[in-house]
Amino acid sequence: MSWFRIVPIQELLDGRAHRFDVDDRAVCVTRNGDCYYAMSDICPHKGASLSAGLLRNGCIICPSHVWRFSVVDGVMQGNEYTRVPVYSTRIVDSWLEVDLPPKPMTRTLRETLLAHARGELSRDQT
Ligand code: FES
Repeated sequence: MSWFRIVPIQELLDGRAHRFDVDDRAVCVTRNGDCYYAMSDICPHKGASLSAGLLRNGCIICPSHVWRFSVVDGVMQGNEYTRVPVYSTRIVDSWLEVDLPPKPMTRTLRETLLAHARGELSRDQT
């Protein structure tokens, strides 16, 4: 996990969602009073930008098909098995920082086959 400095907290409007591109990832940041939340900005349904949705009663409402996700734990309302990744936040020197997990390693098929041929990958690393 790595902390990324995102934005001065005074620039975050209360009750609104904001999108930030951080380390090649889209992050949706919301503010509720003195509480700040961060989650992936990509809806798990069909990939809409959650930060374009409305924030109501602690949930972000996807603008495409109105699925609702808790900003606290990312769980979809009415379907506990569907969730959006959420990230820890902290405030340092009046800046919001977000803790993002390492990016998943991606390989092309060619790179994967070459790595297998060299014996660099185990069966579950593909
Ligand atoms: S894309 Fe978000 S609910 Fe369909």
